[in-house]
Amino acid sequence: MKRDFLHITDFTADEIHETFALTKEIKARFRKREDYKPFKDHTMAMIFAKPSARTRISFETGFVRMGGHALFLGPSDISIGKREETKDIARVVSRYNDIIMARLFSHDQILKMAQFSSVPVINGLTDYNHPCQIMADMFTILEHRGHLKDLKVVYIGDGNNIVHSWLRLAQRLPLHFVCACPHDYQPDSKTFTEAQKVGLSELEISHDPMVAVKDADIIYTDVWASMGQKDEAMQRRERFKGFQVNDALMAATGKKSLFMHCLPCERGVETIDSVIESKASIVFDEAENRMHAQNAILLKICGKA
Ligand code: CP
Ligand code: NVA
Repeated sequence: MKRDFLHITDFTADEIHETFALTKEIKARFRKREDYKPFKDHTMAMIFAKPSARTRISFETGFVRMGGHALFLGPSDISIGKREETKDIARVVSRYNDIIMARLFSHDQILKMAQFSSVPVINGLTDYNHPCQIMADMFTILEHRGHLKDLKVVYIGDGNNIVHSWLRLAQRLPLHFVCACPHDYQPDSKTFTEAQKVGLSELEISHDPMVAVKDADIIYTDVWASMGQKDEAMQRRERFKGFQVNDALMAATGKKSLFMHCLPCERGVETIDSVIESKASIVFDEAENRMHAQNAILLKICGKA
């Protein structure tokens, strides 16, 4: 049976902890430039319907350094769903490659791709979620704090794909997660309710960032207009006034909180230079850990760890 990684909930809590341990191990191997080639003679097709820096670079670099070959297939190469149906591309690409990594617009499309692919499919972001990002984020928090106990993460901004992956993670690992967003930009209610039903984490939606951030260990933000919504950027800037992560908001936590952002960041919009460049900011560790966490996820879904 092939395994996909489309949501954080595709892994059990034990598997998530194992992935973090493996991430740490792989990161150390990479730092020492050890000869480590578990994917020798393997190929991974990377299908992108949207732009990317981190996802493309981290997957390609990580896979090549583990002995494999990664193919970048940009929006104009495949035109998935336009030039050719997803179910056909999934079967064709599976005949050539050992793994498919895809960044797509519609989540249904990645579900379909996984259904028709005979090789593991890994989600590099859809409009619904971004599981590799939040796995790397939680690993980064673990690295910085040394443990995951009594963790309060406050996300400020749009209730988007990043939030949905936090809510999926909250179904597997206990945390206190608050999404502070305008009332008309809340996360998907089904995802929120499902996570709440599991009863493992304390989950809240707030519309008052200054109150929400109190005692936060982590302040997390993301762009106000995601890929595919850029034409709404100006109207969103108006709507999200008061949701910028600035020095006053960081100070309102009342403790030494860390600042995270999945990047890319629109400086001066959802956050400002003095926060992202501050000692509290761990955004570049977070970006680096994308590669190590994804390598660990790849090893796990391919049955190599
Ligand atoms: N965080 C992230 O996924 O970045 P890219 O969009 O540049 O891949
Ligand atoms: N929410 C953002 C995340 C980018 C990594 C987007 O979907 O564009």
